[in-house]
Amino acid sequence: MQILKYSKSFLLIFLFVSSFSLAASGHPVRAENGMVVTPSDIASVVGSEILKENGNAVDAAVAIGFTIAVTYPAAGNLGGGGFMVIHLADGESTTIDFREKAPMAAYRNMFLNDSGRFVQSKSLTGGLASGVPGTVAGLLYALQKYGSLPLAKVIQPAIDLAKDGFILSYQMAKSFNSYQKIFAKYPSSKKIFHSPEHPFVEGELFVQPDLAKTLEAIKTKGKAGFYEGKIAQMIVAEVNKNGGKFSFQDLKNYKAVERKPVLGNYRGYEIVSMGPPSAGGIALIESLNALEHFNFSPEDWGSSHHIHIVSEVLKHVFADRAKYVGDEDFVNVPKVWLLSKERGEEIFKSIGKRAVPSKLISPGKVKILKESSETTHFSVADAEGNAVSTTVTLNSLYGNKIVVDGAGFLLNNEMDDFSAKPSVPNQFGLTGSEANSIQPGKRMVSSMTPTIVLKDDKPFLVVGSPGGSTIISTVLQTIMNVIDFKMNIQEAITVPRFHHQWLPERIDYEKYGMTKDVKENLIRLGHHIGIKRVLGRVQAIEIDWQNHVFYGASDPRSNGMAEGL
Ligand code: GLY
Repeated sequence: MQILKYSKSFLLIFLFVSSFSLAASGHPVRAENGMVVTPSDIASVVGSEILKENGNAVDAAVAIGFTIAVTYPAAGNLGGGGFMVIHLADGESTTIDFREKAPMAAYRNMFLNDSGRFVQSKSLTGGLASGVPGTVAGLLYALQKYGSLPLAKVIQPAIDLAKDGFILSYQMAKSFNSYQKIFAKYPSSKKIFHSPEHPFVEGELFVQPDLAKTLEAIKTKGKAGFYEGKIAQMIVAEVNKNGGKFSFQDLKNYKAVERKPVLGNYRGYEIVSMGPPSAGGIALIESLNALEHFNFSPEDWGSSHHIHIVSEVLKHVFADRAKYVGDEDFVNVPKVWLLSKERGEEIFKSIGKRAVPSKLISPGKVKILKESSETTHFSVADAEGNAVSTTVTLNSLYGNKIVVDGAGFLLNNEMDDFSAKPSVPNQFGLTGSEANSIQPGKRMVSSMTPTIVLKDDKPFLVVGSPGGSTIISTVLQTIMNVIDFKMNIQEAITVPRFHHQWLPERIDYEKYGMTKDVKENLIRLGHHIGIKRVLGRVQAIEIDWQNHVFYGASDPRSNGMAEGL
């Protein structure tokens, strides 16, 4: 039955998928030889096929990255950016930063009007909203340095799916339909994502010939196939036609950067995560360093004590994020201090029985310590011990909703992740400071938190999520749910979550995530209860190396799938 959902070219692949490994229940998917978890069921099959054909976790991650640009266009992308955290079987860990960059024509006050007011419509819509895309450079860098298969092989499934089409799911048809008015504004987007006569329906074939050609150009010319020549011309033309200021040099000069991961440890587990320009890894490790001072037992989960402590920690962490995190190629981030056990202890000591109002919490004072040292996520682990945690984004769902005419992919609206004006919130309600001000060629701060947790030096959890600022609290709670609350990985990502980000001063929570008495207790402690909303969509893997079992878990809030082999 499953086979009928996909295009002809995928029939073959599905015939080889072992039914034993398909997700079908509330339990994690179990497998012995590797695991792939993505937001797109088709991409999960592509990833596991690459592993079966002797590809490693990086090959599979790159194939998935290109595939979700076709099968999950709301967030999978060629026109956006992201981060990849890699742990290799030889024990080394590294990260690849392919975050978008401000074009060279960008300037600090570009989103302020004549009276100095922030005009958010400009940082979220139109050509000015787009940063120079990084995804293609990032995936190609990862493949060339850490993959084992040729590009032609890992990109081919994406090309076939764009050329031959794939069958729309109910959720994807519904999602396209809900953006019809916006897509209709742009002729290039209208050609692909607009269906004037009748709404998109579940079961229809969705074909993207222009996107197939772009992917073919990447296959034959590599990075130059996207960042130079015809595709680059199309990108510059589309961005500038819509009020942006891209140049060919912006594209030609774009480079993915390999950076050291940020490292921490929590109750004996090692945390490997993404450093600046993402604030995610720092915020995660800083939170865990403070939370380590508290004892939690499984019975504490969901209690006002649990929610109070984590929320108070997050207030300090987000205050530090707002002040200190920026692109390290431009600003000095006091990483050593932010990641230190000292800073964690300082936060711990400031937490009492009652909530401290956000206005009384300010970013910590940096101490010089001795040097020691709408987005989507997918996780891959192979049998050899390689693991890859990747989060990619266009920022808003479908980015700025503008398709590059002739090239068939959507552009990001990542410029909104800069702090357009100090202390004025962006679309996620996040404020920032000078560290994240707009500068030409700078990368905007992110909350993406692709993370690998190691146990005895081997990957234990591979985890990450979309969700803007809520990514940080989502990944934090997933890790705590496993380590502190003893949940299996499916339980850990399924149970309701909550979120605090210092400003606005409120605890948001999920449906069934806060009982009446817990809410009343939190209000009594001085907390402000926020809104009920969906928080994150985790795609995660847990590995038991002793028994060589991989557990895959796709968030029920998404339409993803865990696929083992
Ligand atoms: N665009 C969301 C983030 O990078 O945090």
